[in-house]
Amino acid sequence: MLKEYSKGANDEYKTPKYAIYPLVNFLPKYKTIWCPFDTPESNFVKILSDQTDKHQQPLFKVLFSHIKYGQDFFKYEPPEWDIIVSNPPFTKKRLFFERSLSFQKPFALLMTNQWLQDSAPKKLFRDRDLQLLMFEKRVHYEQNGVTRKDTPFSSSYFCWNLLPKQIIMSRF
Ligand SMILES: C[S@@+](CC[C@H](N)C(=O)[O-])C[C@H]1O[C@@H](n2cnc3c(N)ncnc32)[C@H](O)[C@@H]1O
Repeated sequence: MLKEYSKGANDEYKTPKYAIYPLVNFLPKYKTIWCPFDTPESNFVKILSDQTDKHQQPLFKVLFSHIKYGQDFFKYEPPEWDIIVSNPPFTKKRLFFERSLSFQKPFALLMTNQWLQDSAPKKLFRDRDLQLLMFEKRVHYEQNGVTRKDTPFSSSYFCWNLLPKQIIMSRF
């Protein structure tokens, strides 16, 4: 039985735009992307909704949901979607990944690399390939309208069934 954890101080980190662009090229075109921890202010929602093809047609259909709308990720699921993309709360990350894996659909979730030191990701991905989109630099998140410059950890997109190979080193 997995343990539930209380809300943590790092749960409201907002992802900066520059950390989202490197992921866009790996997302299959014309699919429906669900951003489950997001509002219209989210840079995931803004950037992914803005992508167009050479005919100026939207590259993705973007759906978003958030706990503040009563859409708890552990209970809510949109009727139709193809890929999850977002930055889940760092608290309860094991449960967020467990639920993401349960859908058997591709995902990319931004997460601290410190998590790789825990046993949880090794157990969760023992029989399923974890894919990592890693960055040379640290992502500095926005918290309460202020962008940190001293983020004490590096981050990667922890993915499943999305990247062309298991580890990709990227830059922004
Ligand atoms: C790390 S923040 C990411 C915010 C934003 N999407 C971004 O990256 O810019 C995670 C967000 O998920 C929300 N959240 C927490 N628990 C949730 C749940 N069970 N279901 C949906 N959203 C949740 C938090 O309130 C927080 O706003």
